[in-house]
Amino acid sequence: MSLNALTFPDHFLFGSATAGHQIEGDNIHCQEWYDEHHDERRKAAGKGVSGKACNHWELYRQDVDLIADLGHQAYRFSIEWSRIEPAEGQRDDAAYRRYRDLVERLVARKIQPWITVCHYTHPQWFQAKGGYAEERNIADFERHCDWMGRHFGDLAAGWILHNEFNSGPISAARRKINYLKAVARGALALKPHSKAPTTYAHGGHYVEPLRKTDPLDRAATEWEDWRTNEWVLHAFRTGEIVHPGVDAENCAWVKDAIDWWGLNYYRRHIVDARRANLHAPYPASSARRVLHNVPPGDRKAEHLAVDEMYPDGLLSLLLRRKDKPVIITENGYVGDDDTERIRYIQLHLAAVHEAIRQGVDVRGYCYWTTMDNFEWGTFVPRFGMVHVDFETFQRTPKPSAYWYRDLIQRRTLEAMT
Ligand code: FCB
Repeated sequence: MSLNALTFPDHFLFGSATAGHQIEGDNIHCQEWYDEHHDERRKAAGKGVSGKACNHWELYRQDVDLIADLGHQAYRFSIEWSRIEPAEGQRDDAAYRRYRDLVERLVARKIQPWITVCHYTHPQWFQAKGGYAEERNIADFERHCDWMGRHFGDLAAGWILHNEFNSGPISAARRKINYLKAVARGALALKPHSKAPTTYAHGGHYVEPLRKTDPLDRAATEWEDWRTNEWVLHAFRTGEIVHPGVDAENCAWVKDAIDWWGLNYYRRHIVDARRANLHAPYPASSARRVLHNVPPGDRKAEHLAVDEMYPDGLLSLLLRRKDKPVIITENGYVGDDDTERIRYIQLHLAAVHEAIRQGVDVRGYCYWTTMDNFEWGTFVPRFGMVHVDFETFQRTPKPSAYWYRDLIQRRTLEAMT
């Protein structure tokens, strides 16, 4: 492997990302918290509870100092809707003031706040009304975005309306379409209050056929690509919503409702038309369990642990986004080998650099994640640049955090051989 020294443009932002539920702790008004304690299927799947997570709710001041000390120029995080509006129509002023303080501290330390309005977690009252299964509930999110714009619009550097709604099963098509419409309506609601660009975090579902010349694998890959990626790009480019399983719809207001493309990317997916679920399995799970210290039964951790790095997938997804500025809203390495983490970031940033060279207007990169966190059911897989002791909440930057700080100062990826 060899890599030349690569310099990034001056305006390119280096940062990191988190999500409220994964780090704050005691996020008791959201549906995810309720499900962690009451959903038997979750428990049967071996998923644990978030509890205090990283206790960021209480430790946010020191976390801002840490992020500043590590030199990050942008920080993507979520403001939990269920904390701001724990009951329908009732706002929690103390929660608002705490988030306002967080944002002001970031700005004071010259860190751009990239605010995720909803990172998977919804208020329990919203879910009780049917959540996004009901199109009429989009109005609640739109109203919330208007409120967010009025309260944070002066300081936000960017808005990420929703996270990774683009994939998911075809049976959930209606819900996915409602998410898409919510992103568009939310972005339009923010506009009067904020000059900051709006986007959503697209789950970069890079797909490849298992057998490159097999017509069925190729057709299945096209199909997978449409239903996970292209239907959303197409909708924001044309206003036409074409998703398998439902009649197509024209919504002129969806066209160009967002300003930038946001992109999360982790790995590739291999499509095998000869499997019921189309996806080829990753390498034997027992090997992965050993490599990543995954305890037996922790299926979520096993799912996240992947042994390969595939930066070409990121390049390919970026090359499809030449028509708007792009921000990488997530990209990260899971595992305890911090040298591999550095290598992962190097290779993916090299792919970003190549995309810029080929004409994609990539404006920034947020590493997932700032600190080890709660990964939706498990604390085992560690994506963080900062180690967290989940008993004492002690934060300890890993070597990768200092490597990244140096990179941010130099703005040049060193040559790799
Ligand atoms: C993404 C999620 C994020 C985190 C990473 C590992 O899909 O957006 O919250 O769980 O995966």
